Amino acid sequence: MNVLHFTAECYPIAKVGGLADVVGSLPKYQNKLGVESSVIMPFYDNVFTKQHSFKTIFESSIHLGDAIIDFKILSLTENDLGFDIFFVDVPELLFKDYVYSYDDTDRFLAFQIAALDWVAQLEHKPTIVHCHDHHTGLVPFMMYYAHKYHMLNKIPTVLTIHNAQYQGWFSHDKISLIPAFDMEHIGVLDWDNSVNPLAAAIKCAWRVTTVSPSYMEELKRNANGLESLLSHETAKCSGILNGIDSHVWNPETDAYLIKTFSRKSIVSGRKANKKWLCDEFNLDINKPLFAFIGRLVGEKGADLFPQIFDISLQKNDISILLLGSGHDDIEQGLEDLKSKHKGAYNAYIGYDEKLSHIIYAGADFLLMPSRVEPCGLNQLYALRYGTIPIVHNIGGLKDTVIDISEKGFGFVHHEASVEQVCHAIERATNFYQNQPTFKKMRTLIMQIDHSWDASAQAYIHLYNTLN
Ligand code: ADP
Ligand code: GLC
Repeated sequence: MNVLHFTAECYPIAKVGGLADVVGSLPKYQNKLGVESSVIMPFYDNVFTKQHSFKTIFESSIHLGDAIIDFKILSLTENDLGFDIFFVDVPELLFKDYVYSYDDTDRFLAFQIAALDWVAQLEHKPTIVHCHDHHTGLVPFMMYYAHKYHMLNKIPTVLTIHNAQYQGWFSHDKISLIPAFDMEHIGVLDWDNSVNPLAAAIKCAWRVTTVSPSYMEELKRNANGLESLLSHETAKCSGILNGIDSHVWNPETDAYLIKTFSRKSIVSGRKANKKWLCDEFNLDINKPLFAFIGRLVGEKGADLFPQIFDISLQKNDISILLLGSGHDDIEQGLEDLKSKHKGAYNAYIGYDEKLSHIIYAGADFLLMPSRVEPCGLNQLYALRYGTIPIVHNIGGLKDTVIDISEKGFGFVHHEASVEQVCHAIERATNFYQNQPTFKKMRTLIMQIDHSWDASAQAYIHLYNTLN
């Protein structure tokens, strides 16, 4: 079996969120399990592409409407990622210092068409095409219906939905950018009077997966307009929980940490990382440290934070540290709070991979009051590093965190509300006071196995049903 993953992000090459972590690790684990698994993604202008050298393995041009656009397929000259990776180089559209932007329709259409042009002429074609999210959602449609890809129409396709909030909608005027197909199939592209790449992928892919079983169930009731489609296609849908790359996310070897640690050296290791955070962000090491890492958007419940932090800091003797970026008004609210709670609260507005690792290793609790969380990787990283998660009971959070009151290892609240999150913070603060129990719990959660082994196997099992 030979699987080709189509994606917009892949760690360590280009990362905006968890999609990158998944596509940067799942193929590695699939290769270990004996399935040849590789990745194709856009060639961006970023640190990774500047620091590595590439060779051209294919050159051609595509038609995007009236425009003729040259492209190249590149591969790494030296590759130690654990899987083969191919890049679509379309200089004027894709070679940018960002992944997503306002003109994504043209950019990702060019990516998908160029990638399929290359696949179409390969002597050894993939036996499975695995697409991730709406940026690659027109691949199954084009493989099925576009005349020039007729030789690909028997290759099984799998779509993984990492986030159904974003669907890649564009207007019917742009349909002419898609390579020619029989117009009788035009309805497949449509959902609610616009072209909807995610909906088209759900209709055309042979199998559809989401990144946790609970999220699959939730999508039938709440999928940003796609509820009835997902309910209709339920027979080919399933949820497979994400794993984590336990080589990258390993507190014993993590080069980003101030001090690495194992379960045996957890106390001194975590203390060194917490001390660094507290020195750097002017916080008191003796107080329980609550943290958040992530995108500052409504989905993550981030709009609630200014109020949650203000109330919790007045009520409890705690510290709070936030790392993230997103909506301007949320960022502003979080900045404004700094002067009021100097010495107890701080925030780094931006993206910082190293800092995120130190927070997982040094904070006592990690907040995740998400309104929507298809899987969530942060809680899995937190567990592996001994940080206790405080989560809203939805999606992947529901599938991975059990409340302490139910013989579990985290704090679970049932609404993404200021009141309930503040209550969970209070419960956690009380739990922290009993240091022997708190420390025992930290050591315990480090042992929970969320590595990819089981889930990578579940994907392979699904592929096997298609070949
Ligand atoms: P999502 O993909 O919805 O953003 P996930 O929980 O699946 O959420 O994954 C988020 C990933 O992005 C994690 O690896 C997390 O550590 C990382 N991350 C998010 N925001 C930041 C940030 N500001 N700086 C560093 N890493 C971040
Ligand atoms: C999406 C989801 C997140 C998930 C990630 C990786 O970005 O929002 O919950 O963990 O994809 O699948």
